[in-house]
Amino acid sequence: MIKKAVLPVAGLGTRFLPASKATPKEMLPIIDKPLVQYAVEEAISNGIEEIIFITSPKKLSIKKHFDINHELESILKDSKQEEILDKLNPEIFKEIKFHYVNQNEQNGLGHAVLQAEDIVGNDPFAVLLPDDLFFSKKSCLSQLIDIYKQTRSSVIAVNKIEKVNIHKYGVIKPGEIKEKLIKVEDIVEKPSHEEAPSDIAVCGRYIFNASIFKFLESTNFDKFGEIQLTDAIKKLLYEEEVFASIYEGEKFDCGSKQGFVHATITLALRDESISHDIKKIIKEIV
Ligand code: G1P
Repeated sequence: MIKKAVLPVAGLGTRFLPASKATPKEMLPIIDKPLVQYAVEEAISNGIEEIIFITSPKKLSIKKHFDINHELESILKDSKQEEILDKLNPEIFKEIKFHYVNQNEQNGLGHAVLQAEDIVGNDPFAVLLPDDLFFSKKSCLSQLIDIYKQTRSSVIAVNKIEKVNIHKYGVIKPGEIKEKLIKVEDIVEKPSHEEAPSDIAVCGRYIFNASIFKFLESTNFDKFGEIQLTDAIKKLLYEEEVFASIYEGEKFDCGSKQGFVHATITLALRDESISHDIKKIIKEIV
């Protein structure tokens, strides 16, 4: 039902300089897989058939990464290393259509999503922010798809955040709550902790009806000079119901160094091929 996913990856990644100077931040690896691939896999494993990267002309390596690498493939075949071929050109990517749309100006998340309008058309679609890395039995996107199937309304993943950190997120004003499902009454982008309407913050997964584009088109720049997705959702609320779903599972904010390292350590400890050594190393250090 949801066949298209938009992944905004045009950001400058200034928090990761100098690593992000020549390598897009989204291509930095958590162990041996670039950050962006985790979000792509989450999308594909939930039935997404078209991935729309909103990218920058400088980030060529993202496209290269998702293209088939014939040369390396034949070298691996010739040297009888077929067992790693699936890492190189994963089977699950074979039927997927990857689109690359350039966002030439850095005008914010709302502006990025708007660039996907022509490819998305009238279909409902997912947005995944690759900085937010999620692990759960039932993936975050899958939790949203379940809600979308019931409501046919746009739905946002949310989680509770300590008040001291609330200014980093979009924050909802909750209306009626039924178990994990919340009717969104209002939404504010990065409020101060005094102004925040709740401690329920937007995390980086959304499903939208195509009607969001109309509101993105009419959204003005905010005080930081950005077109916010949150502001378009606020407008959408005047015409349609929007729901929020409390995400159940692990979340790593890989847009921050702490979150990136946290995810790296966690995945290293789960990787059977290295976990024994990593445990020893951590013990030695602490
Ligand atoms: C973006 C959104 C914000 C959301 C956050 C989740 O902010 O604008 O509403 O809560 O992602 O990670 P950013 O992290 O790009 O500043």
